[in-house]
Amino acid sequence: MRHAPIAPDLFADNRRRLAELLLPNAVAVVNANDVLPTNADGSLPLHPNADLFYLSGIEQEESILVLAPHSAEEKHREILFLREPNEHLKTWEGHKLSKDEATAVSGVKTVKWLSDFPTIFHQLMCEAEHVYLNSNEHARSTREVQTRDERFVRDCRRRYPLHQYHRLARLLHRLRLVKSPAELDLLKQAIDITDSGFRRVLSFVRPGVNECEVEAEFIHEFTRRRAKFAYTPIVAGGANACVLHYIANDQPCHDGDLLLLDVGASYANYNADLTRTIPVGGRFTPRQRAVYDAVLRVMRASIAGAVVGKVNRQWRREAQAMMNDELLQLGFLKEEDLTKPYDPDEPPCRKYFMHGLGHPLGLDVHDVGSPHEPFAPGWVITVEPGIYIPEEGFGIRIENDVLITETGPVDLMAGIPVEADEIEALMARAK
Ligand code: GLY
Ligand code: MN
Ligand code: MN
Repeated sequence: MRHAPIAPDLFADNRRRLAELLLPNAVAVVNANDVLPTNADGSLPLHPNADLFYLSGIEQEESILVLAPHSAEEKHREILFLREPNEHLKTWEGHKLSKDEATAVSGVKTVKWLSDFPTIFHQLMCEAEHVYLNSNEHARSTREVQTRDERFVRDCRRRYPLHQYHRLARLLHRLRLVKSPAELDLLKQAIDITDSGFRRVLSFVRPGVNECEVEAEFIHEFTRRRAKFAYTPIVAGGANACVLHYIANDQPCHDGDLLLLDVGASYANYNADLTRTIPVGGRFTPRQRAVYDAVLRVMRASIAGAVVGKVNRQWRREAQAMMNDELLQLGFLKEEDLTKPYDPDEPPCRKYFMHGLGHPLGLDVHDVGSPHEPFAPGWVITVEPGIYIPEEGFGIRIENDVLITETGPVDLMAGIPVEADEIEALMARAK
């Protein structure tokens, strides 16, 4: 791993909080993600399983965490099962965790090799009544490729059909939504690295550079800071910004165009999610500036409106009402667009602002959690309004990450340049 070691208390606290939610006589199991194949003998780098990391800090393939908090055998209450290191693995793949190292990372005292799993798991199942298994229950997850956790669910239910099975994901979602101080420290590091990448890009962008060169500036900064891309970055000049999931990043940037940058760093698996829109030539046109300031006003007001107890739908409707007014002032909408009846889920602004206002953020970029739950202290969400005008060849989105607290929202990206004047000044200084 590239990140600095993390105190294992973070993971031990998470296991303790999960154990408090389990029914008596329960076993819970979380598996690592698969190393996904590509072509021929190729594979993608392992993407650590967020739940396994949350509960153990372990980022090694094939690992299994088993929790049996009520087991009569104290040493079986938390067990990590790992690949057994050997000379062959050492030669071809390098270092694998020893038992002591896994304990130091996770705080789990009992670490076994995977070959011990069938016997110990059988013993635990003979004791247990309730079994909590993991699954990807993100509302927008794709279901095409079976995960290691899903294969485990299938096999476990076949072998032990008479236990009572439960969805671990529901409990983990509830816990993961609320960030602890240690998690917030890691998120802030990801945000700080993202800030550095953005400032580097502000002094790099000029007419003629290709979007991919801008992407390269970000990854240079992220990699040297021991981070990686949190998601495939969007570096979209001109009308490319109107393609919401544009990732080709292969076009030259033209003077007079805007460049939309939706790029975040992932540090220690915690993700930042930033969007800034900057003028390629260093100056916004009056038209671009008017739209930019409208988006910025909606972002600022939406940050202020991200208060405890509000649900996402209400929050989004408030932003849409502001956006309707801004679009009216800008001349994109007419009075009658707003006075004739419309479906509140399809307000007139959706022609220009057609995506959501924000999402929970954490170990996943679109983090787990129900969209219908009211905001609560400790949540981190993004706030990302935008206006997209393909006919005029530009799209503007601005996105900050915000912590919800009892005393009001805290903008975790308040220090990242966002005022049009500030962006212009920083770009001018670089010239
Ligand atoms: N970068 C993904 C998003 O903004 O939701
Ligand atoms: Mn986002
Ligand atoms: Mn984003």
